[in-house]
Amino acid sequence: LNILRTIPAARRYTSRLRRPPRRAGRGTTIALVPTMGALHEGHLSLIRCARREADAVVVSIFVNPLQFGSSREAARYPRSFAEDLRRCRREGVDAVFAPTVRDMCPRPSLTSVHVDRLTAHLCGPHRPGHFDAVARVVLKLFNVCEPDTAYFGAKDFQQARMITQMAGDLNLRVAIRVCPTVRAADGVALSSRLRLLDEGERRRARAFPAALHRAGQLLKSGASADRIGREMQDVLEAQGVRVDYAGLYDPERLQPLRRAVAGEASRAGGRALAAVAGWIGKVRLIDNRLVFRR
Ligand code: PAF
Repeated sequence: LNILRTIPAARRYTSRLRRPPRRAGRGTTIALVPTMGALHEGHLSLIRCARREADAVVVSIFVNPLQFGSSREAARYPRSFAEDLRRCRREGVDAVFAPTVRDMCPRPSLTSVHVDRLTAHLCGPHRPGHFDAVARVVLKLFNVCEPDTAYFGAKDFQQARMITQMAGDLNLRVAIRVCPTVRAADGVALSSRLRLLDEGERRRARAFPAALHRAGQLLKSGASADRIGREMQDVLEAQGVRVDYAGLYDPERLQPLRRAVAGEASRAGGRALAAVAGWIGKVRLIDNRLVFRR
């Protein structure tokens, strides 16, 4: 496992890989799995998918301070670098790119990356500046590592949709792959933040998949989007979750489906994205699921 601590080291490593062998036809294909560390089975499933599809896998581990609401929130984010390296080694990762904050976020930086519309709803209004910070750091990671493919989890649906759009809009060479959410046995979507919950809070987190399940049932029974949103909120609040949002969204445009589901969900091919975000104590969790009218 190569541990790359600086941008020049990562550039040297990936350009060496890319150089075609003297006689053979093509250079090595490179997959990038961008992470903030505290790796769990969800990340490992991205790494395994990358392993199957590319010759070399690079995992980036960088807790981007700019995408948190405050420096306190960034400081609280779980970190387990030594264990992350062990897991990467076990999964056959070729290199870990773990730059410093000073390297990745030099000041002043006068360039912003903003993906319009797709960030207007869901987490956008609740986390001002978050998606711009994610888009910027991901674009930087792409520029440094120059991957052929990059892997993101569907749990962060809005993030994945935004990055796919950015890659298309800016003609980036990288192909974006979005892999399914990995869930614990009780249905809770795996997330590094679950480590911050105590036992009782962890049990209450089951309200998130429960709210999504309820949304699926109600959509099939023909309930309106308004009613579905209210019932999802009730499921979460019954477990003491402070809800940021709960409802149905168009999975492409990420706009709320407000009117009767019959009209809008059928325009979206009978599909809707049921999505929730809320707080259990000091920990913010999100989850989503595609639900269908039939
Ligand atoms: O999903 C994450 O872990 C982060 O938002 C990402 C994509 C690594 C950017 O910092």
